[in-house]
Amino acid sequence: MKNYIKFDTKYSAEKLIISALQFKENPFLKKEIGKGLRIGLIFLNPSLRTRVSTQIAANNLGMEAIVFNIDKEGWALEFEEGVIMNENKAEHIKEAASVLGGYFDILAIRAFPTLIDKEQDMADKVIHQFIKYSQKPVVSLESSSRHPLQSLADMMSIEETWQKVSKPKIVLSWAPHVKALPHAVPNSFAEWALGLGHNLTITQPDGYELDAQFTKGAAIEYDQEKAVADADFVYVKNWSSYHDYGKLPKVKGKWLLKDHQLKENAKIMHCLPVRRNLELADELLDGNKSLVPLQAQNRIYAAQAVLFEIISNMGS
Ligand code: CP
Repeated sequence: MKNYIKFDTKYSAEKLIISALQFKENPFLKKEIGKGLRIGLIFLNPSLRTRVSTQIAANNLGMEAIVFNIDKEGWALEFEEGVIMNENKAEHIKEAASVLGGYFDILAIRAFPTLIDKEQDMADKVIHQFIKYSQKPVVSLESSSRHPLQSLADMMSIEETWQKVSKPKIVLSWAPHVKALPHAVPNSFAEWALGLGHNLTITQPDGYELDAQFTKGAAIEYDQEKAVADADFVYVKNWSSYHDYGKLPKVKGKWLLKDHQLKENAKIMHCLPVRRNLELADELLDGNKSLVPLQAQNRIYAAQAVLFEIISNMGS
C-alpha cells in the first residue's frame, strides 16, 4: 500500500483490522519501525480525534509527527492550474505540496468538501494534488468523499464487539442537524461495510439518498423505526443532500433515535463530534448501548495499522 485514501480490497481491509487489533493488544509491538521517519499531518479543517489519534499512532511506531494547520497558519492555497494569482491566494499547491514532500516521509491530509462544487469534491481534488506534487505516500485524514481511517476504526469496533458466527444487521441511520454536513463518513462507512460483506441497511429521509457508487448492495428503508427495530448495530450520522448537493431538503417525521426503538443488546455508533439531543439522545450516548468511546479509542490503532502498512511497503 502506498497511499491510503479509500477501501481497497476485502483482503486488505481484513488485514488492516487484524493488524489494528494486534496494535490495540500491544501498541509498542513495532516501536522501532518508524524510527528516523517523519509524518506531516496537514489540516485544512478542524479536528480533535483524527489529529490526536494519528499523532499517538505515529509516536507508537517511533515516528516524529508534526501537525500543520495549513488553513490557519499557512499561506492561502491556489489549486487551479494556469491561473494568474493576482487575488488572495498566495501559494500554489504545486510548490506547497512539493516543499512538504521534501520535509516529510509521509503526508496525511484533511480536506473537507466545498459542498458547492460536486464534481470537484467527488474527484477529491485536494488529496490528489498532494499525491501528485508531494511524491510521497499520502494518508487521507478525511477527504471530500471518504473518511477511511474512521471507517477502519468503525469496522474494527464491530469486529471486536460482535463475537458470533452469524452476520450482524448493521443500519446506517440519518440523523437531524442544523448545518449541511459532508457525505464522507456515511459514504465510507457504507463502502467498508459492503466491501467486507456485511448486511447493511441505510435509512434516510426522502431527498437524502447517498451517491449510489457507495451504497450499491445496501437495503434502503425510508422508515427509520422499521429499519432499526431488529438492528444489531446502528451507526447514526447526519449528512446533507447529495443529489441537491449540499442542500437541506425539508424532512418529514422525527429522526432523533430513542432507546425504546432498539433491541436490548443493540449497539449505537457515531464518529463524533456529536450534537447531543439533536443527532443522538443523551439516553443513548450515556447508556450501555453506546460504542462511541470505543470507536474513538480505536482510531489510534486504525491509524497505527495504516502507517505500519505504508512504512512496511516503503522502497518496495
Ligand atoms: N471522527 C473524527 O474524524 O473526528 P475529528 O473530526 O474530531 O477528527
